[in-house]
Amino acid sequence: MRLLFVGDVVGGVGRRTLRALLPELREQHAPDFVVVNGENAAGGVGITRRTADELFEIGADVITLGNHTYRHRDVYAYLDEHDAIIRPANFPAGQPGHGSCVVERNGIRLGVVNLSGNLYLKAGRAAFPEADAQVERLQGRVDHVLVDMHAEATSEKIGMGWYLDGRVTAVVGTHTHVPTADGRVLPRGTAYITDVGMTGPRGGVIGVKREQALEALGTQMPVKFDTSEEDPWLMGVLITASQPMRADAIEQILQAAPA
Ligand SMILES: [Fe+2]
Ligand SMILES: [Fe+2]
Repeated sequence: MRLLFVGDVVGGVGRRTLRALLPELREQHAPDFVVVNGENAAGGVGITRRTADELFEIGADVITLGNHTYRHRDVYAYLDEHDAIIRPANFPAGQPGHGSCVVERNGIRLGVVNLSGNLYLKAGRAAFPEADAQVERLQGRVDHVLVDMHAEATSEKIGMGWYLDGRVTAVVGTHTHVPTADGRVLPRGTAYITDVGMTGPRGGVIGVKREQALEALGTQMPVKFDTSEEDPWLMGVLITASQPMRADAIEQILQAAPA
């Protein structure tokens, strides 16, 4: 099983970067599955029907989300209607959408679970008991499980990696938009990384135009943010596995968009 997970796609520049680089990444790495975090796909914050359709059309098998899930109302019904787009499972149960899905490719069944951290993010319910519930739900129905742990704090993400080690194929962190250097397979076989990074402009401040971010930081006043277009990169990880629920390797993919 070969799985490409792509970190938070930021705005049009992120979608264009994914479109430009995915064909060559497919050729190079032959992934069975492509899972894309899309929480910043529409104008840098949230996702819309149109941008979700576009990510599927570019080649995402599954879209995961995060704290910006409900920024655009037009996607609420879409989240209920489409299986392969998921929002954190530990959001309140009454909110639109669902927190996990199963997709099948090349005879392999992949379960994908989205979770939100509880530190500095409003998730509604605790991530750790929800992780147990989701793993239990998927048991026997899938060959592999990927968990996107969308969280601010490194501690919560590392904790989730250890918590699920041996029970899922991979736990990947998202949300900070900055890739970490700790990708590894944990002792019981779960591939782990604290943050995959983003697919978006490195020239800004985690996606936002540099001058606007600096103005907000310097004045401590509200500033309207636009997505930077400068120096877009694709940031992701490739996870490979030859046995169910056990990863062989996790490899970072950090690649500049073609000029
Ligand atoms: Fe994000
Ligand atoms: Fe986020």
